Amino acid sequence: MLNRSRNEFIDGDWILKQIDDEAICASFDCGDDDLNEYFRVDAVLHRQELIAQTYCLQLSTYPTIALALLDFCNDAIHFDWKGKVYDDVIVIDSRKHYAYFPAVKLTRFGVQRELQRKNVGTRALNMVKKFFLTNNRTGCRFITVDAYNKPEVIQFYEKNGFKLFPYHKHNRDSLPLYFDLKRFVTNL
Ligand SMILES: CC(C)(COP(=O)(O)OP(=O)(O)OC[C@H]1O[C@@H](n2cnc3c(N)ncnc32)[C@H](O)[C@@H]1OP(=O)(O)O)[C@@H](O)C(=O)NCCC(=O)NCCS
Repeated sequence: MLNRSRNEFIDGDWILKQIDDEAICASFDCGDDDLNEYFRVDAVLHRQELIAQTYCLQLSTYPTIALALLDFCNDAIHFDWKGKVYDDVIVIDSRKHYAYFPAVKLTRFGVQRELQRKNVGTRALNMVKKFFLTNNRTGCRFITVDAYNKPEVIQFYEKNGFKLFPYHKHNRDSLPLYFDLKRFVTNL
């Protein structure tokens, strides 16, 4: 495994990298109209305004094709320690019970339609976990996602070690999940 640059993570033939050519988003189709529209049209504005950054998962043998597209922004998880128990969320010295913990949010995520259900999404998440552990400029304890409130999507994240965040007001369309990178370190 080799980290070639700060914006790229390589694992065998697989590459997770910040996109350097908008064209790679043009033909992307994950079967979800909102996400397709986001990656084809809106993502560029988010990048220009420094709100989010787009990464793609590729195979080195097909460098012009995005197998998955992912957008990220900085995030923080709020902990209200008074009267609440977070033992399942974070194992940390009580002297470090801060109100906010640094995180990176996976704001958009889709796998190319024909490749879904072939473990590509799982591979992408595994590379993301390693990428933010090894290549981060700042402290980052969690990966967060507001996942589509659909059984198959929640199951996908839960299978990949994400958990539903407790004490959170859930809305109908999305559910907040988190992944503790510290737990990943101890499992490596
Ligand atoms: C959700 C998504 C990212 C998952 O990626 P993927 O490559 O298809 O998922 P994987 O093959 O790694 O699946 C791992 C597990 O997730 C669950 N899962 C994923 N897609 C599923 C589906 N359509 N139906 C039921 N379970 C599903 C299954 O438990 C699966 O394990 P299994 O195949 O052994 O049963 C992808 O299907 C996708 O892009 N969907 C459309 C866009 C979307 O919903 N994005 C999420 C926004 S929050």
